[in-house]
Amino acid sequence: MHTGETEASAADGWERARQLNLANWNERASVHGQDRYYDMAGFLAGSSSLRGTERRLCGDVAGRDLLHLQCHLGLDTLSWARLGARATGVDFSDVAIGRARLLAAQAGIDATFVQADVLDLPADLGDAFDLVVASYGVFTWIGDLDLWARSAARALRPTGHLVVVDMHPLAQMIEQRDPLVVDFPYADDGPHRTSSESTYANPAAVLRAQTTVQWAHSLGEIVTALTGAGLRLELLHEHLSTDRDDRPGVFALGDDGRWRLQVWDQDLPVLFSLTATKNCPAEGIRSVQARG
Ligand SMILES: C[S@@+](CC[C@H](N)C(=O)[O-])C[C@H]1O[C@@H](n2cnc3c(N)ncnc32)[C@H](O)[C@@H]1O
Repeated sequence: MHTGETEASAADGWERARQLNLANWNERASVHGQDRYYDMAGFLAGSSSLRGTERRLCGDVAGRDLLHLQCHLGLDTLSWARLGARATGVDFSDVAIGRARLLAAQAGIDATFVQADVLDLPADLGDAFDLVVASYGVFTWIGDLDLWARSAARALRPTGHLVVVDMHPLAQMIEQRDPLVVDFPYADDGPHRTSSESTYANPAAVLRAQTTVQWAHSLGEIVTALTGAGLRLELLHEHLSTDRDDRPGVFALGDDGRWRLQVWDQDLPVLFSLTATKNCPAEGIRSVQARG
Protein backbone atom coordinates (compact mmCIF):
# COMPACT_ATOMS: atom_id res chain seq x y z
CA MET A 1 0.00 0.00 0.00
CA HIS A 2 2.67 2.50 0.99
CA THR A 3 5.58 3.28 -1.29
CA GLY A 4 7.44 5.14 1.43
CA GLU A 5 8.43 7.93 -0.95
CA THR A 6 8.78 11.08 1.13
CA GLU A 7 8.09 14.48 -0.44
CA ALA A 8 10.59 17.19 0.29
CA SER A 9 8.83 20.52 -0.16
CA ALA A 10 6.13 21.06 2.42
CA ALA A 11 4.15 24.19 1.49
CA ASP A 12 3.61 23.47 -2.22
CA GLY A 13 3.39 19.81 -1.38
CA TRP A 14 0.36 20.40 0.85
CA GLU A 15 -1.77 21.98 -1.88
CA ARG A 16 -0.68 19.33 -4.35
CA ALA A 17 -1.40 16.65 -1.76
CA ARG A 18 -4.85 18.10 -1.18
CA GLN A 19 -5.61 18.04 -4.93
CA LEU A 20 -4.43 14.45 -5.29
CA ASN A 21 -6.40 13.29 -2.27
CA LEU A 22 -9.53 15.16 -3.35
CA ALA A 23 -9.44 13.59 -6.82
CA ASN A 24 -8.96 10.17 -5.27
CA TRP A 25 -11.76 10.63 -2.70
CA ASN A 26 -14.14 12.01 -5.30
CA GLU A 27 -13.62 8.89 -7.36
CA ARG A 28 -13.89 6.60 -4.36
CA ALA A 29 -17.11 8.34 -3.34
CA SER A 30 -18.56 7.55 -6.74
CA VAL A 31 -17.77 3.81 -6.54
CA HIS A 32 -18.36 3.17 -2.83
CA GLY A 33 -21.75 2.33 -1.40
CA GLN A 34 -22.43 -0.86 -3.29
CA ASP A 35 -21.13 -3.43 -0.82
CA ARG A 36 -21.38 -4.34 2.83
CA TYR A 37 -18.70 -1.82 3.84
CA TYR A 38 -20.92 1.15 2.99
CA ASP A 39 -24.22 -0.68 2.85
CA MET A 40 -26.56 1.97 1.49
CA ALA A 41 -29.33 -0.52 0.67
CA GLY A 42 -29.19 -1.87 4.22
CA PHE A 43 -29.19 1.65 5.59
CA LEU A 44 -32.28 2.56 3.57
CA ALA A 45 -33.92 -0.59 4.96
CA GLY A 46 -33.28 0.72 8.49
CA SER A 47 -29.86 -0.53 9.61
CA SER A 48 -27.31 1.69 11.36
CA SER A 49 -23.71 2.07 10.16
CA LEU A 50 -22.48 2.97 13.65
CA ARG A 51 -20.30 0.66 15.68
CA GLY A 52 -20.44 -0.02 19.40
CA THR A 53 -17.32 2.00 20.25
CA GLU A 54 -18.55 5.38 19.02
CA ARG A 55 -22.10 4.66 20.23
CA ARG A 56 -20.81 4.08 23.77
CA LEU A 57 -18.49 7.09 23.73
CA CYS A 58 -21.12 9.51 22.42
CA GLY A 59 -23.87 8.29 24.74
CA ASP A 60 -27.40 9.51 24.19
CA VAL A 61 -27.26 11.93 21.23
CA ALA A 62 -30.98 12.74 21.11
CA GLY A 63 -31.54 16.47 20.84
CA ARG A 64 -27.82 17.20 20.63
CA ASP A 65 -26.02 19.11 17.89
CA LEU A 66 -23.48 16.71 16.38
CA LEU A 67 -20.82 17.48 13.78
CA HIS A 68 -19.40 14.50 11.90
CA LEU A 69 -16.03 15.34 10.36
CA GLN A 70 -14.85 13.64 7.14
CA CYS A 71 -18.30 12.10 6.78
CA HIS A 72 -17.76 10.44 3.37
CA LEU A 73 -21.12 9.12 2.06
CA GLY A 74 -22.96 10.32 5.14
CA LEU A 75 -24.05 6.93 6.49
CA ASP A 76 -22.75 7.60 10.01
CA THR A 77 -24.02 11.18 9.99
CA LEU A 78 -27.48 9.95 9.06
CA SER A 79 -27.29 7.09 11.57
CA TRP A 80 -26.63 9.68 14.31
CA ALA A 81 -29.63 11.64 12.99
CA ARG A 82 -31.78 8.53 13.24
CA LEU A 83 -30.82 8.40 16.93
CA GLY A 84 -32.21 11.89 17.35
CA ALA A 85 -29.13 14.07 16.88
CA ARG A 86 -29.28 17.29 14.89
CA ALA A 87 -26.51 16.06 12.64
CA THR A 88 -24.18 17.89 10.28
CA GLY A 89 -21.65 16.07 8.09
CA VAL A 90 -18.59 17.73 6.57
CA ASP A 91 -16.35 16.41 3.83
CA PHE A 92 -14.13 18.07 1.22
CA SER A 93 -15.39 15.74 -1.51
CA ASP A 94 -18.24 17.29 -3.51
CA VAL A 95 -19.14 13.82 -4.83
CA ALA A 96 -19.39 12.44 -1.29
CA ILE A 97 -21.49 15.38 -0.11
CA GLY A 98 -23.77 15.02 -3.15
CA ARG A 99 -24.30 11.33 -2.42
CA ALA A 100 -24.87 12.03 1.28
CA ARG A 101 -27.56 14.60 0.46
CA LEU A 102 -29.22 12.18 -1.94
CA LEU A 103 -29.16 9.41 0.67
CA ALA A 104 -30.71 11.76 3.24
CA ALA A 105 -33.50 12.59 0.81
CA GLN A 106 -34.08 8.92 -0.05
CA ALA A 107 -34.19 7.97 3.62
CA GLY A 108 -36.33 10.97 4.55
CA ILE A 109 -33.85 12.05 7.23
CA ASP A 110 -33.28 15.65 8.18
CA ALA A 111 -29.52 16.36 8.28
CA THR A 112 -27.14 19.00 6.97
CA PHE A 113 -24.18 18.27 4.71
CA VAL A 114 -21.45 20.83 4.11
CA GLN A 115 -18.68 20.58 1.56
CA ALA A 116 -15.61 21.99 3.30
CA ASP A 117 -12.03 21.21 4.15
CA VAL A 118 -11.87 20.03 7.74
CA LEU A 119 -8.83 22.27 8.18
CA ASP A 120 -10.83 25.34 7.13
CA LEU A 121 -14.39 24.97 8.40
CA PRO A 122 -16.96 27.70 7.66
CA ALA A 123 -17.30 30.27 10.45
CA ASP A 124 -20.95 29.39 11.08
CA LEU A 125 -19.90 25.92 12.28
CA GLY A 126 -17.98 27.57 15.13
CA ASP A 127 -19.12 27.19 18.74
CA ALA A 128 -22.19 25.30 17.53
CA PHE A 129 -21.88 21.63 18.53
CA ASP A 130 -22.30 19.50 21.64
CA LEU A 131 -20.43 16.65 19.95
CA VAL A 132 -17.77 16.59 17.25
CA VAL A 133 -17.18 13.05 15.96
CA ALA A 134 -14.56 11.64 13.58
CA SER A 135 -13.98 7.97 12.90
CA TYR A 136 -12.26 5.21 10.90
CA GLY A 137 -9.85 6.81 8.46
CA VAL A 138 -9.33 10.30 9.86
CA PHE A 139 -5.77 11.37 10.68
CA THR A 140 -3.84 9.64 7.92
CA TRP A 141 -5.34 12.23 5.52
CA ILE A 142 -4.32 15.17 7.64
CA GLY A 143 -0.95 16.86 7.18
CA ASP A 144 -1.39 19.47 9.91
CA LEU A 145 -2.71 17.88 13.09
CA ASP A 146 -2.62 21.18 15.02
CA LEU A 147 -4.93 22.76 12.45
CA TRP A 148 -7.29 19.77 12.59
CA ALA A 149 -7.41 19.94 16.39
CA ARG A 150 -8.07 23.70 16.36
CA SER A 151 -10.90 23.21 13.82
CA ALA A 152 -12.53 20.54 15.96
CA ALA A 153 -12.12 22.60 19.14
CA ARG A 154 -13.56 25.72 17.48
CA ALA A 155 -16.68 23.82 16.38
CA LEU A 156 -17.42 22.70 19.96
CA ARG A 157 -19.52 24.62 22.42
CA PRO A 158 -17.68 25.28 25.71
CA THR A 159 -19.14 22.15 27.30
CA GLY A 160 -18.89 20.01 24.16
CA HIS A 161 -17.09 16.72 23.60
CA LEU A 162 -14.82 15.49 20.85
CA VAL A 163 -15.07 11.75 20.09
CA VAL A 164 -12.49 10.08 17.84
CA VAL A 165 -12.20 6.42 16.82
CA ASP A 166 -9.43 5.77 14.32
CA MET A 167 -6.93 3.22 13.09
CA HIS A 168 -4.11 2.71 15.57
CA PRO A 169 -0.82 4.12 14.23
CA LEU A 170 0.91 0.82 14.99
CA ALA A 171 -1.56 -1.06 12.77
CA GLN A 172 -1.05 1.54 10.02
CA MET A 173 2.63 0.60 9.87
CA ILE A 174 1.93 -2.94 8.76
CA GLU A 175 1.29 -3.66 5.10
CA GLN A 176 1.31 -7.44 5.39
CA ARG A 177 1.22 -9.76 8.39
CA ASP A 178 2.60 -13.04 7.12
CA PRO A 179 5.39 -12.69 6.20
CA LEU A 180 5.58 -9.43 8.13
CA VAL A 181 6.00 -6.29 6.00
CA VAL A 182 6.32 -2.97 7.84
CA ASP A 183 6.40 -0.09 5.38
CA PHE A 184 4.98 3.02 7.07
CA PRO A 185 6.42 5.05 9.96
CA TYR A 186 4.89 5.24 13.41
CA ALA A 187 5.25 9.01 13.75
CA ASP A 188 5.06 11.99 11.38
CA ASP A 189 8.07 12.23 9.12
CA GLY A 190 6.30 14.18 6.36
CA PRO A 191 3.97 13.27 3.51
CA HIS A 192 4.03 9.82 1.94
CA ARG A 193 2.93 9.38 -1.63
CA THR A 194 1.06 6.17 -2.34
CA SER A 195 -0.33 4.67 -5.50
CA SER A 196 -3.13 2.17 -5.69
CA GLU A 197 -5.69 1.39 -8.36
CA SER A 198 -8.07 -0.26 -5.89
CA THR A 199 -10.18 0.89 -2.98
CA TYR A 200 -11.12 -0.89 0.23
CA ALA A 201 -14.89 -0.61 -0.22
CA ASN A 202 -15.12 -1.78 -3.82
CA PRO A 203 -12.31 -4.19 -4.75
CA ALA A 204 -13.72 -4.62 -8.28
CA ALA A 205 -13.33 -0.93 -9.13
CA VAL A 206 -10.22 0.31 -10.93
CA LEU A 207 -9.45 3.90 -9.96
CA ARG A 208 -8.08 6.49 -12.37
CA ALA A 209 -6.97 8.89 -9.61
CA GLN A 210 -4.57 6.42 -8.04
CA THR A 211 -2.10 8.65 -6.21
CA THR A 212 -2.74 9.79 -2.66
CA VAL A 213 -0.64 11.47 0.01
CA GLN A 214 -0.87 10.26 3.60
CA TRP A 215 0.77 11.03 6.91
CA ALA A 216 1.75 8.97 9.91
CA HIS A 217 0.79 10.37 13.32
CA SER A 218 1.77 8.77 16.60
CA LEU A 219 -0.67 8.67 19.49
CA GLY A 220 1.55 11.15 21.31
CA GLU A 221 1.37 13.59 18.39
CA ILE A 222 -2.42 13.27 18.22
CA VAL A 223 -2.95 13.83 21.95
CA THR A 224 -0.47 16.72 22.01
CA ALA A 225 -2.27 18.43 19.09
CA LEU A 226 -5.63 18.10 20.88
CA THR A 227 -4.37 19.43 24.21
CA GLY A 228 -2.52 22.20 22.36
CA ALA A 229 -5.89 23.27 20.88
CA GLY A 230 -7.29 23.69 24.39
CA LEU A 231 -9.00 20.31 24.63
CA ARG A 232 -8.78 18.24 27.81
CA LEU A 233 -8.32 14.53 27.24
CA GLU A 234 -10.83 12.39 29.16
CA LEU A 235 -9.97 8.91 27.98
CA LEU A 236 -7.70 7.18 25.51
CA HIS A 237 -8.29 3.51 24.73
CA GLU A 238 -6.16 1.24 22.59
CA HIS A 239 -8.24 -1.61 21.17
CA LEU A 240 -6.74 -5.04 20.61
CA SER A 241 -9.69 -6.29 18.57
CA THR A 242 -12.47 -4.87 16.46
CA ASP A 243 -15.82 -5.98 15.09
CA ARG A 244 -14.99 -5.30 11.41
CA ASP A 245 -12.21 -6.22 9.03
CA ASP A 246 -10.76 -2.74 8.72
CA ARG A 247 -7.58 -4.07 7.07
CA PRO A 248 -8.43 -7.00 4.77
CA GLY A 249 -5.49 -9.37 4.50
CA VAL A 250 -3.85 -7.90 7.63
CA PHE A 251 -6.42 -8.49 10.37
CA ALA A 252 -7.44 -12.09 11.14
CA LEU A 253 -10.82 -13.31 12.37
CA GLY A 254 -10.85 -15.04 15.76
CA ASP A 255 -13.22 -17.74 17.00
CA ASP A 256 -15.07 -15.04 18.94
CA GLY A 257 -15.96 -13.19 15.71
CA ARG A 258 -13.51 -10.33 16.46
CA TRP A 259 -10.75 -9.15 14.13
CA ARG A 260 -7.17 -8.90 15.44
CA LEU A 261 -3.69 -8.04 14.29
CA GLN A 262 -1.49 -10.84 15.58
CA VAL A 263 2.26 -10.79 15.15
CA TRP A 264 4.15 -13.73 16.64
CA ASP A 265 0.98 -14.68 18.57
CA GLN A 266 0.76 -11.29 20.24
CA ASP A 267 -2.15 -8.91 19.68
CA LEU A 268 -1.13 -5.47 18.42
CA PRO A 269 -3.54 -2.53 18.80
CA VAL A 270 -5.90 -2.15 15.86
CA LEU A 271 -7.89 0.96 16.81
CA PHE A 272 -7.71 3.76 19.34
CA SER A 273 -10.55 5.84 20.70
CA LEU A 274 -10.56 9.01 22.73
CA THR A 275 -12.83 11.65 24.12
CA ALA A 276 -11.85 15.21 25.00
CA THR A 277 -13.70 18.25 26.27
CA LYS A 278 -13.21 21.88 25.62
CA ASN A 279 -11.03 23.39 28.32
CA CYS A 280 -13.49 25.97 29.43
CA PRO A 281 -12.21 28.74 31.69
CA ALA A 282 -14.51 29.61 34.60
CA GLU A 283 -15.35 32.94 32.96
CA GLY A 284 -16.53 31.11 29.83
CA ILE A 285 -18.70 28.71 31.79
CA ARG A 286 -20.40 31.60 33.62
CA SER A 287 -21.16 33.44 30.39
CA VAL A 288 -22.68 30.30 28.85
CA GLN A 289 -24.86 29.75 31.92
CA ALA A 290 -25.92 33.38 31.83
CA ARG A 291 -27.02 33.00 28.23
CA GLY A 292 -28.96 29.80 28.97
C1 LIG B 1 -11.90 6.79 5.21
S1 LIG B 1 -13.03 8.06 4.86
C2 LIG B 1 -13.86 8.26 6.38
C3 LIG B 1 -14.99 7.35 6.42
C4 LIG B 1 -16.04 7.76 7.40
N1 LIG B 1 -15.55 7.64 8.73
C5 LIG B 1 -17.23 6.86 7.24
O1 LIG B 1 -17.45 6.05 8.10
O2 LIG B 1 -17.91 6.98 6.24
C6 LIG B 1 -12.06 9.53 4.86
C7 LIG B 1 -12.88 10.75 4.44
O3 LIG B 1 -12.08 11.92 4.73
C8 LIG B 1 -12.37 12.86 3.74
N2 LIG B 1 -11.26 13.85 3.77
C9 LIG B 1 -9.95 13.64 3.56
N3 LIG B 1 -9.26 14.78 3.73
C10 LIG B 1 -10.17 15.74 4.04
C11 LIG B 1 -10.08 17.12 4.35
N4 LIG B 1 -8.90 17.75 4.35
N5 LIG B 1 -11.21 17.80 4.65
C12 LIG B 1 -12.41 17.18 4.65
N6 LIG B 1 -12.57 15.86 4.36
C13 LIG B 1 -11.45 15.14 4.07
C14 LIG B 1 -12.46 12.05 2.46
O4 LIG B 1 -13.17 12.72 1.42
C15 LIG B 1 -13.20 10.81 2.96
O5 LIG B 1 -14.58 10.95 2.76
